[in-house]
Amino acid sequence: MKVLVIGSGGREHALGWKLAQSPRVTIVYIAPGNGGTALQKGLHNVDITNLYALADFAEHEKIAFTIVGPEAPLAAGIVNLFHSRGLRIFGPTREAAKLESSKVFAKTFMKCYGIPTAEYEMFSDAPAAHVYAKAKGVPIVIKADGLAAGKGVVVAQTLDKAHRAIEMMLRDNKFGEAGRRIIIEEYLHGEEASFIVMVDGKHVLELASSQDYKRLLDGDQGPNTGGMGAYSQAPIITPQLHARVMSEIIWPTISGMEREGICYTGFLYAGLMIDAQGNPKTLEFNCRMGDPETQPIMMRLKDDFSCVIEHALAGTLDTVRLEWDPRTALGVVLAAHQYPDAPRKGDRINCIPSQTETSAIFHAGTALVDGTLVTSGGRVLCVVGLAASVREAQSAAYEVIHHIQFDGMQYRRDIGYRALNFNE
Ligand code: AMP
Ligand code: GLY
Repeated sequence: MKVLVIGSGGREHALGWKLAQSPRVTIVYIAPGNGGTALQKGLHNVDITNLYALADFAEHEKIAFTIVGPEAPLAAGIVNLFHSRGLRIFGPTREAAKLESSKVFAKTFMKCYGIPTAEYEMFSDAPAAHVYAKAKGVPIVIKADGLAAGKGVVVAQTLDKAHRAIEMMLRDNKFGEAGRRIIIEEYLHGEEASFIVMVDGKHVLELASSQDYKRLLDGDQGPNTGGMGAYSQAPIITPQLHARVMSEIIWPTISGMEREGICYTGFLYAGLMIDAQGNPKTLEFNCRMGDPETQPIMMRLKDDFSCVIEHALAGTLDTVRLEWDPRTALGVVLAAHQYPDAPRKGDRINCIPSQTETSAIFHAGTALVDGTLVTSGGRVLCVVGLAASVREAQSAAYEVIHHIQFDGMQYRRDIGYRALNFNE
C-alpha cells in the first residue's frame, strides 16, 4: 500500500521512517518532507502543500491512508476535506482541532467539563487585561487564543513583561486574528510531561509516555522553543498517575467533545503539569503528535504502525495492544544558529553518521541543494539513542552528535536530566 504523511519536520521523518518498515507499505510519500526524507529509503518527497492539491494527489495515487503531522492543516480542515472526497485520513476535523487551535475554546471546554487546568480569565480588551494581571501578580502566563507558531505563550516573571505581552497581543496585533483574544492564567509549578493517545471516535489507545525539554539552554534556562529534546518512557508517569490522567483528563475530553456534538478522532496530546504532590493539570491540548516526542516514541514502538493506523480508521483501537521496546529512547535536537529568534539557513551539514540498531537521526530543518545537505529551519536534526537506561541512551545520542557538524550548531547537553534525577 501507499501512504501519505503531511509535514516537513523531525516528527514526520520519524512517522515516515516507522511506516516504511512495514512489509505492507510500498511507498511513504511525505508532503513536502525535508532533506532527510528525500534521502531515506522507502520515503519520497512530494512538493505539495495546498490542501486541495494534496487531496487530488491522494486520490490519483490511491493512497491507502494519510496521517497529518502539524496542527495548521488540521485547523484548516484537511480532515473535513479528505472525508468529503471519501479519502482515508487519520486526524481530527477542523471542529475537533479547536482544542488546539483556540485556547479560549480549550479553556472554556475544560472548565465546563471539570478537566483540571490552571485558573484563567479571557480578555479582548487591553485595559481590563492589565488590571487583572496587576491584581494577580507574577509569575503569570499570557496566551494568544489562536495558533502562533509556538510563540503565542509568554511566561511572565515580572509585571513589566506581562504588561508588554498584553500590549503586543491586544494593541500591536502581533499575532493578528490569533491574538485578538487572550487568556491570562495562573502559573503552575511542577514538572511537565507529554501524554499522547490515539482516538478512533470511541476508543482510546495510549502511546508510551514522554517528556520534552522546551527551553533553549541547559538547566531549563533561556527562551521557550518548539522542543530541544525528549525521551520515552517518562518515569514521572507512574501507573497510578497514568490511570488518573486517563480518568480525569483524557476520557472527560472525549466524552465532553461528544456532548458538544464533536466526534474526536486522531492523536490527542495533553501537555501536563504535575505538581509536587503528583496531581496532574492540563497546560494545553495538541491535536497531533509532539515534536520531538514522536522521534523517541517511534523508535520504541515494535508494532507495525500501518496496522495501528488502520485499526484507528476502522474504529477498532480497542483490539490493539501495543508492544514497546523496554529500553529508553532519548532524542537531542540540534538547532541552527540563532534559533529560536532568527534561525540562519544555508549552513552546510557535514558528516551525518548512518543509523544503527541503537541510534537514528531524524531530519527537520534540512534541505538538499544541488546534492548538498544544508540547514533550512530552526530545529535541524534530532539524534535519538536507544539503550537500557536513560544514562546509556543519553551517551548513545551524544556520541553520535560528536560526529555531526554545521556552523552555528547549538544543542542542550543535559537532555534526560530530569529522568536521571527521578531514578537516582
Ligand atoms: P502551551 O503552548 O500552552 O503548552 O505553553 C507552552 C509552554 O509554556 C508550556 O510547555 C510550559 O512550559 C509553559 N506554560 C504554559 N502555561 C503555563 C502555566 N500555566 N504555568 C507554567 N508554565 C506554563
Ligand atoms: N514538543 C511540543 C509540541 O510538539 O508541541
